[in-house]
Amino acid sequence: MARIIGGITTSHIPAIGNAITRGQMEDPYWKPFFDAYPPVQDWLEEAKPDAAIVIYNDHGLNFFLDKMPTFAIGAAPQYLNDDEGWGLQPLPPFQGDPELSWHIINSLVEDEFDICSCQEMLVDHGFTVPMSLMFPDQAKRSAIRTIPVAVNLIQHPLPTPARCYKLGQAIGRAVASYEKDTKVVVFGTGGLSHQLDGQRAGFINKDFDLMCMEKIVSDPEALARYSIHDLVRLAGAQGAELILWLVMRGAMSEKVKKLHSNYHIPISNTGAGLLLLENAA
Ligand code: DHB
Ligand code: FE
Repeated sequence: MARIIGGITTSHIPAIGNAITRGQMEDPYWKPFFDAYPPVQDWLEEAKPDAAIVIYNDHGLNFFLDKMPTFAIGAAPQYLNDDEGWGLQPLPPFQGDPELSWHIINSLVEDEFDICSCQEMLVDHGFTVPMSLMFPDQAKRSAIRTIPVAVNLIQHPLPTPARCYKLGQAIGRAVASYEKDTKVVVFGTGGLSHQLDGQRAGFINKDFDLMCMEKIVSDPEALARYSIHDLVRLAGAQGAELILWLVMRGAMSEKVKKLHSNYHIPISNTGAGLLLLENAA
């Protein structure tokens, strides 16, 4: 049987990818951020997941305003990134797992989530930056099978936090009903507070972020009760990416154990949050 062995949250800021490429991890600006990751990388080394479900938002690379699925899931044998205009390097392909993808797609539709299935899918920084952070070793990054799950955070109306939490619960049920012995880790990417444009560009809300880091562990339903507009007000227009963390959390068991966490501001324009969770017995 398949089982979810862990849930990880991380911001997915493009500048992180560029800092990795340029080897700037020891620079004073970057060091406190990157220093938080080895415990999570070590946990992944030890736990050896077979597959990673990566919850992210496509920022305009694979989907654009003309066609914007609310929830889309990759079912491709492999995934490539491409130039998004952030200067991020093209990376070697990420391995897919069409069989597990189709199992999840079937299970979700059966569960009344009418998602968009993608047999071809480009993945953007929302997917690639967390993968680079979690698997600094290219061989390991290429070895793990991935299932990209893209949630619309670009064009309103965005899905509600409550719906995203329920999607996560449905993904949890889908994994639990997969018969092949598979260890699965779920990444909730993006966040925390940030606003990239408009009058509040640069807005960060540390108090709200720290509350979210706590509640996502102990009381995710409290976060699921916010509206999207609450999140935009409290966390900035792009801080609504918190809904991606809620998908991850929904896939985990009701009680989870926090193994590691870090919060650092600012990285680029963003409150950067890192969490490693295990399902509690
Ligand atoms: C930044 C953060 C994001 O989540 C993103 O998608 C793009 C840029 C930033 O802080 O620069
Ligand atoms: Fe983003």
